Amino acid sequence: MELVNFVLCFLFVGSVWCGSEYYMASVVDADKGDLIRSNKYATLINEAAQSNVDLLVLPTPKTATLEYTLESCVLENFDEVVKSVSAAAKLAHMYVVAPLYEKVNCQDKEELITNNLVFDRAGSLIYVHRRPVNSLTRCNTTSSRIGRFVTDFGVTFGVLVEEDLLLTNAQEFEGIENFVITDNSVSKKSFIFAQQFQASWAFVKKVNVISASGYISGTDGLKRTSPLIVAKLRKSGGAQSSFIAGPPSSFPSEDLSQYVIKPVNLEASLQGYSDSVCHGRFCCQFFVKTSVIGTNPQDVSYGLVAFDGIHQSGSNNIGVQTCSLVACAGLYKRSCFVGSEKNTTNINFDKISIVANFSKANSAQFPTISTTTQTVCNEENFKFTIKSTDYNYVTTEIHNTDNILIFGIIGRDYSKDFESTNYNSTEDNILDFSEYISSENVQEFFDYVWIKLRVVILIVSVYVLEMM
Ligand SMILES: *[C@@H]1O[C@H](CO)[C@@H](O)[C@H](O)[C@H]1NC(C)=O
Ligand SMILES: *[C@@H]1O[C@H](CO)[C@@H](O)[C@H](O)[C@H]1NC(C)=O
Ligand SMILES: *[C@@H]1O[C@H](CO)[C@@H](O)[C@H](O)[C@H]1NC(C)=O
Ligand SMILES: *[C@@H]1O[C@H](CO)[C@@H](O)[C@H](O)[C@H]1NC(C)=O
Repeated sequence: MELVNFVLCFLFVGSVWCGSEYYMASVVDADKGDLIRSNKYATLINEAAQSNVDLLVLPTPKTATLEYTLESCVLENFDEVVKSVSAAAKLAHMYVVAPLYEKVNCQDKEELITNNLVFDRAGSLIYVHRRPVNSLTRCNTTSSRIGRFVTDFGVTFGVLVEEDLLLTNAQEFEGIENFVITDNSVSKKSFIFAQQFQASWAFVKKVNVISASGYISGTDGLKRTSPLIVAKLRKSGGAQSSFIAGPPSSFPSEDLSQYVIKPVNLEASLQGYSDSVCHGRFCCQFFVKTSVIGTNPQDVSYGLVAFDGIHQSGSNNIGVQTCSLVACAGLYKRSCFVGSEKNTTNINFDKISIVANFSKANSAQFPTISTTTQTVCNEENFKFTIKSTDYNYVTTEIHNTDNILIFGIIGRDYSKDFESTNYNSTEDNILDFSEYISSENVQEFFDYVWIKLRVVILIVSVYVLEMM
């Protein structure tokens, strides 16, 4: 294989990269590139050329308004933008991936399509990966979720939109070690997409990820030359030793009524304690040891979560098994998976360890981490292992880390995808207020504190009675 690459390489260009184990990739820093519009693409491509980049992935177009919508990202001058990117790619002698939205007419309806356009060093459009923004669409688009293109430096890239990373069976990615990922949605992402999902996906799969959202896998060899991030990547994929967790990009409200959530006993956790939380026969073993930072009272509490079922993610129903420790703002389930406005939670986790038996067949497991500030997970503070026996026995651990909003294991059970959820939303069939109180709110309390709360309520009512 190596030899073939080598020969192909010389046939194509005889470039200095032939035989090299590495290539240079670049993306636009999301923090710096917030307002980058399509008329800046040529400039960005020129800048990347200064760093001898082989492949540049442009950001998804955004408008300057704060409340941008997908509609407003649709280019009026699609053809012009394509021409200018092509010309700039040729001038810079560089591969460029441009994710552009397009409006097309499909069966008398307007549909939004994500186009991932790939230009080669000669500025030729060599590949287009089309995915509808709305997965309920009837448009004829690329049937495969994963696109592929081959480069003159001997690397085959998989192209896909971020959402498909979670939806697609991991087995379909076998054999590809380098991925270009773009986003197809400005809608709020489900918490299980935790901002770093692509990072932990790259970490577990030992692959390179170059993402239009401003992320390149691995933390070694990254160079920030504002507004670009440039990285030297190993062609054979990344045996990364670390990845970065950060704050979530959005705080969607989700239906957590089916999730089993038990509050962390912070008092016991100062000494370190074990607990297990089960959803049906799926059980998660937790060990939590904390220390309090400073003297300020906590503004968050924590919950231990177990879930084994169907999670609704946009218009998709996906099979999910998860064990997590999550930050909650109060005693209600719906307050969990929150962000914190502050950048600290006043609690240091000396150790969290989570162990569970996940489904083995047709499944995949990943770490999920979200923190209020950027946190590096590396060999020193983080562990994630999967042992396959009758189950996938998954262990994860994190040491001496504060500011945690979510830490756990997210498992996908692909065999359960697209089954409809086996419960009915209570939203549409609330008959009267008393029923609302009795069903909805009870369900919304942490599953394991309801009894304790009843005691509190009882005491309060006794107190009230005494006053009378
Ligand atoms: C989709 O493909 C089918 C068969 O290839 C074709 O008959 C139909 O016209 C296409 N629809 C659109 C909207 O392009
Ligand atoms: C956290 O926020 C405070 C002010 O809100 C700031 O002074 C401090 O530097 C921040 N810390 C980090 C680690 O970002
Ligand atoms: C995982 O399964 C094994 C074998 O059935 C069992 O001994 C072990 O207790 C299970 N672990 C957890 C965390 O459920
Ligand atoms: C959900 O609602 C449908 C129709 O209203 C009903 O047939 C079905 O049995 C319900 N499912 C559950 C789990 O209650």
